[in-house]
Amino acid sequence: MNIRIRQGRPADLGTICRLRLQRASWLAARGSDQWTRQAGGLSIEVFAAAVGHSLRRGESWIAEAGGEPVGTVTVNDRADAGLWSPAELAEAVVVHYMIVDLRCAGRAVGANLLAHAAALARARHRTWVRLDAWTANTALHDYYRRAGFRLVRIAASAMPGPTESAALVPSAALFERRADAWARTTEPPRIPQRILITTRDAGLTVSCVSSRTE
Ligand SMILES: CC(C)(COP(=O)(O)OP(=O)(O)OC[C@H]1O[C@@H](n2cnc3c(N)ncnc32)[C@H](O)[C@@H]1OP(=O)(O)O)[C@@H](O)C(=O)NCCC(=O)NCCS
Repeated sequence: MNIRIRQGRPADLGTICRLRLQRASWLAARGSDQWTRQAGGLSIEVFAAAVGHSLRRGESWIAEAGGEPVGTVTVNDRADAGLWSPAELAEAVVVHYMIVDLRCAGRAVGANLLAHAAALARARHRTWVRLDAWTANTALHDYYRRAGFRLVRIAASAMPGPTESAALVPSAALFERRADAWARTTEPPRIPQRILITTRDAGLTVSCVSSRTE
C-alpha cells in the first residue's frame, strides 16, 4: 500500500472533522469516554476551530491512499497548559489529533503518521516526539507503547485533588519517543502492499483491501 502524506489545506477541515466524528462514534460504541463532552472532550465546533487554525499554519497533515484521505495528524510545538514544561516543548514536536479512518484501521497508517512526525522533528532538530493521550484510556496507552513510546507521567494538573478533577484535563497521559528512534529502525512497518479504495456517497465509504501475502 502506498501511503502518501501531504500537508493539509483549509479545504481539508471537513474531512478531518468527519474522521473525528467517525472515531468519536467508534469510541462511544466501545464504551470509552474519550472525547466525550461529559468527560471534558472538545465539542466538534471547538475541535474544528483548533484544527482550522492549525491548517492555516501548515501544521496539519493528511495521509492519502489511492488519492483518498485515510488519516490525519497535527504536529506543532504547542500543548495545553500544565502538560509539558517550556523546556520539554522546546526540544520536541508535539503530536495532536491523530486519527485514522476506521475502514483503514490496522494498515499502519498511524505508524506512517508517527514516522512523519518524527521526520519533522529531525528536520527541525528536535530530539523528541511527544504527545498527550486520554488519561483514562489505557488501551490507547498500549497502542503508543507498541509504537515505541514510553509513558513519561500523568500531568500533575490532571490528578484528582481537593479542588481539581481529572475531567478538567482529560488528556494528560504524557508519552514520548526519541525522533531518531525511527531512523534506527531497520525493519520497515508491516503494511499491506495494495489498498483498494472505493468512494461513494460524498467520500463516506472507503474499503481497504490488503494483498499482503505473508
Ligand atoms: C490511534 C490511531 C490513529 C491508530 O491508527 P492505526 O495505526 O491505523 O491503528 P489501529 O486503528 O489499527 O489501532 C491499533 C489498535 O489500537 C486500538 N486503539 C486505537 N486507538 C484507540 C483508542 N482511542 N482507544 C482504544 N483503543 C484504541 C485499536 O482498537 C487497535 O486495537 P487491536 O489491535 O486490538 O484491533 C487510530 O486507532 C485512531 O484513530 N484511534 C481513535 C482516535 C485516537 O484515539 N487518536 C489518538 C489520539 S491521542
